Amino acid sequence: MTKPRLLDDPRRRGRLDPQGMAARIEGFPDQIREGVSIAAPALRKISEGRPRRLVLFGMGGSAIAGDLLRAVTDRDGQAMVHVVRHYEPPAWLTRDDFLIFSSYSGETEETLGSFQATRSLGARACVIATGGTLAAGAEAAGIPVALLPAGHPPRAALGYSFSTLASIASHLGVAPGLSDRLPAASRAVEGVVSGCGTAVLQSRNSAKKLAIRLAGRAVLVIGGERGLAAVAVRWKGQLNENAKQLAWASTLPEMNHNEIDGFAGPKAAVGRLAAVLLRDPEDHPRIATRFDWLASYLKRRGVPALPVWAEGDDSVSRLLGCAAFGDFVSYYLALQNGVDPSALPGVEALKKALRA
Ligand code: F6R
Repeated sequence: MTKPRLLDDPRRRGRLDPQGMAARIEGFPDQIREGVSIAAPALRKISEGRPRRLVLFGMGGSAIAGDLLRAVTDRDGQAMVHVVRHYEPPAWLTRDDFLIFSSYSGETEETLGSFQATRSLGARACVIATGGTLAAGAEAAGIPVALLPAGHPPRAALGYSFSTLASIASHLGVAPGLSDRLPAASRAVEGVVSGCGTAVLQSRNSAKKLAIRLAGRAVLVIGGERGLAAVAVRWKGQLNENAKQLAWASTLPEMNHNEIDGFAGPKAAVGRLAAVLLRDPEDHPRIATRFDWLASYLKRRGVPALPVWAEGDDSVSRLLGCAAFGDFVSYYLALQNGVDPSALPGVEALKKALRA
């Protein structure tokens, strides 16, 4: 019998992924469906009425759902969404804003800091967490809590956190009708799972093929500002955390006004880069032109420019489908790199040092 290719080898997967990250990524569509009922008890306690702004406080895997929601509301929402990744809330908060504190563990010090600092404001608020100090503090203060299922790495709970947040944003009129778009988004992600899941051989699996192209390179992920910029941030985080690989995210058109002149050097670094171009069929026509130009510009400088087209009729489906595709790429890159996709030695060591 011929030996399976590295990314098709179930034994390698079993050895490198003892905590089952693959199954969690494949569970993304179910998470999207379940988020709606996770939000329901909290929604019953949240009075309707559109706030001036929706402000989400969170870090890492608990903040990214806020970026995705902002992408949705910038396109067709009714109020501004702002994401705060810091200990201190912005000075402009008012009691007309709606505050969401999102921390999967409920123990993230930046989010707890902002929670405490906003207590006297009197704004409506909600917590998204599995428990911890944050959920306990919210319950003591009479703030509704949307309780996520425990047992996942926070970044692998994006389906839960996004659809919970989307349900809240719909309820508040910040993103009217968004929760009605979740079933289609879940089906779109299901399509990505059936095309890119672990059982699909490398010869037919575009996520495995892309991971191979990215191996050994620092990865620049580019998304259009009104298109897939938030998904580029998700890809960057997943490549860092799952694959333990350097990556950064840039947006169009902004990077056209500065970063493109950086591809001159240092030459050794430029020679070890790859760029992933996250393209949305509804990108502004000038953004599409800029993507085309950028692809040939990068190639001329020896940087592979690899386009990924988001698919689906609805922009929410494209956002989540493209995020799921990136999750798979980061997973296969972890296998390629010979690392456990669930382990986070750096993040954990830092958190431990800060607790000491
Ligand atoms: C880990 C992960 C991290 C955490 C971050 C904040 O899977 O994605 O980025 O999300 O360290 O922790 P939580 O989510 O518990 O507030």
